[in-house]
Amino acid sequence: MYPLRRNRRLRTSEAIRSLVREISITPNDFIVPLFVVEGTGIKEEIPSMPNYYRQSLDLLGKEVKALWAMGLKSVLLFVKVPDNLKDNAGTEAINPDGLMQRAIKVVKDACPEMLVMTDVALDPYSSYGHDGVVGHGQIVNDDTNAILAEMSLSHAKAGADIVAPSDMMDGRIFEIRTLLEDEGFYNTGIMSYSAKYASAFYGPFRDALDSAPADIQDVPKNKKTYQMDFANRDEAVKETLMDIEEGADIVMVKPGLAYLDIVRDIRDAVDVPVAVYQVSGEYAMLKAAAAQGWLDHDAVMLEQITAIKRAGAHMIASYFAKDVVKLLG
Ligand code: PBG
Repeated sequence: MYPLRRNRRLRTSEAIRSLVREISITPNDFIVPLFVVEGTGIKEEIPSMPNYYRQSLDLLGKEVKALWAMGLKSVLLFVKVPDNLKDNAGTEAINPDGLMQRAIKVVKDACPEMLVMTDVALDPYSSYGHDGVVGHGQIVNDDTNAILAEMSLSHAKAGADIVAPSDMMDGRIFEIRTLLEDEGFYNTGIMSYSAKYASAFYGPFRDALDSAPADIQDVPKNKKTYQMDFANRDEAVKETLMDIEEGADIVMVKPGLAYLDIVRDIRDAVDVPVAVYQVSGEYAMLKAAAAQGWLDHDAVMLEQITAIKRAGAHMIASYFAKDVVKLLG
């Protein structure tokens, strides 16, 4: 009780503040998302994601070596698929010589110790821009699962350490885990996007991969029949516990900052590591405000990353990973 206790004593200098600080950020906290395109010598900035790029395979090796040198040891790969290779079933996703499969090998050749995670979902491969197969105006769950399992197996065969299903079909973790076990890939991890919300914060990402749901008659133009309703909290725990039962090694909440209540619920409810995806829209908002001179970019970035970790994230997939690590020095 005051004046016996004065809380400000522990804030009087940076030395004491750092001594009592509960959360600190290190390069170990990050997963770095990378966007890969066909071609050579290509490093194109994504218009809605300033200072973030799509890169061709010949530049990818150099990029991951640079990340490794900074202490960033995990990447999450996404590919931009040429339109002529897209179809409803996402057939290109299981091509053993597809862009993703080649990208995995490039990363492993350049930097064998780098942890390679891969996005597993049909949207970049789908002519409809959906994460699953479209039939009779619906996203067909079980047909999609079979393809996602084959896709995961193909990534594992190419050398992926962890597959990351981001599609939100029911039962896909079980299908993927079963096929990986049957084929002897006992050590391939699954990081499940277990509580993934139907969020408008994904806009810039869909620009990056040209993967937005298409405007086609009788096909839903949003992902609300599989991604979660952002009004729901308890459901996130249910989704996540089911994915763990089905064989997920790591679970995820996505997006980040607007969902920190969910992060804490899940952290308290599970016994596996929790990842948070700080998504493209979160990145774009801060870049835009900072470009206007309205926010201090580095200070807000660090505050947001710290808040995500404080909420309960064991790891954060973030487009700010390099910026943060440079700032930490
Ligand atoms: C694909 C996928 C998406 C993101 C990650 N994987 C987009 C979506 O579900 O529409 C979003 C990432 C971001 O916005 O940064 N299923």
